[in-house]
Amino acid sequence: MPKSHLINVNVAPAAYDVVVEPGILAQLGERARQLSSADKICVVTDTNVAPRYLARVASALQSHFEVLTCTLPAGENHKTLAAIAQIYDAFLPRGIDRNTPLLALGGGVIGDMTGFAAATILRGVPFIQVPTTLLAMVDASVGGKTGIDHPCGKNLIGAFHQPIGVIIDPEVLLTLPRRELVGGLAECIKHDIIRDAEHFAALPRLIADSLKCHLDTLVALVAHNVAIKARVVEADPFEKGERAHLNFGHTFGHTIEKVSQYQYSHGEAVALGMIAAARLSNRLGLLPQNELRAIEEVIALAGLPRGGLDLDVDACMQAMVYDKKVSGRKMRFVLPERIGKAVILDNVLPEHVRDAMISLKGQ
Ligand code: NAD
Ligand code: GLY
Repeated sequence: MPKSHLINVNVAPAAYDVVVEPGILAQLGERARQLSSADKICVVTDTNVAPRYLARVASALQSHFEVLTCTLPAGENHKTLAAIAQIYDAFLPRGIDRNTPLLALGGGVIGDMTGFAAATILRGVPFIQVPTTLLAMVDASVGGKTGIDHPCGKNLIGAFHQPIGVIIDPEVLLTLPRRELVGGLAECIKHDIIRDAEHFAALPRLIADSLKCHLDTLVALVAHNVAIKARVVEADPFEKGERAHLNFGHTFGHTIEKVSQYQYSHGEAVALGMIAAARLSNRLGLLPQNELRAIEEVIALAGLPRGGLDLDVDACMQAMVYDKKVSGRKMRFVLPERIGKAVILDNVLPEHVRDAMISLKGQ
């Protein structure tokens, strides 16, 4: 099995590579230099990642760049305009120009915020993703969706801004708390449900090995998922059509995150959201019963929640209206027609959505 994987993402304004290679953090300076001729580089990270990786990353970059840093408070609750202002304040007074890249060193929260800051600083500077969670490696770091949350809902403010490169060192997953590793598995399960039935069948073994932090398995899992995401993003970079399939489980999921005030992690909420959407699909006569069971089993196997939701269903239904994936008063859902194939249904009846949400209260 190859130790290094290169996946090209062929999108405008410029194609870029995602490199997946254990130990590549040590070569970050050379890799970043291949992507940028700037004299400075601005690293954004968070308070959990900084003590583990910032010194190593800064030292790898220092032989090629003057390194500026900004360490933000960790967590979804800090994915806010105030944190973006901290990035502006850290870098704008330091003489950066339009070629100065921002480098996101962290999970999806840091990646989304750094990308958004890069999209807006000087009307757009380049940015490099160095994801450090499984979720950010397999999903958030690829595809150029950037943004922040608003009290009205998740990711309601943002921009499409593609990175110039994504550099993934799966060795950093060895320090990731188990809950975060499990959260990343939710997006891996999502990709196979919408695109790859054959790989879905292999998930029980891959999940068991991933949970044992088997590095070769994690490398292969990341490369497989980046390839799925890259192909979807290439086909529809601005989510006019099929990219919406990547939102499978997310309309329910975002609502659960928001109403729970982010007590559920993104991955946990997406897992519950996938279960609700799969049950909805089954009820509407699409997803066969045995495939619904297989989805529920694999989610449970990963250690993700598949019930026990302790939230007010009315509050959830209300919050869903604010989700940007609900257009007008119609309820629009990405549903698995079968494992490996998703469809988008408009005009889903709110009472069916409500029933699916209520079903999450059971175990
Ligand atoms: P996160 O960024 O909050 O990271 C999870 C936790 O792990 C944080 O506490 C972080 O400090 C810590 N951490 C990160 N790397 C670590 C490491 N190697 N060792 C130890 N601790 C580490 O959350 P996440 O799950 O990575 O990302 C979720 C976010 O991603 C959500 O805001 C979601 O909306 C976004 N997202 C974006 C896209 C996209 O396409 N842009 C796709 C999916 C999710
Ligand atoms: N995670 C959804 C997307 O990138 O479109």
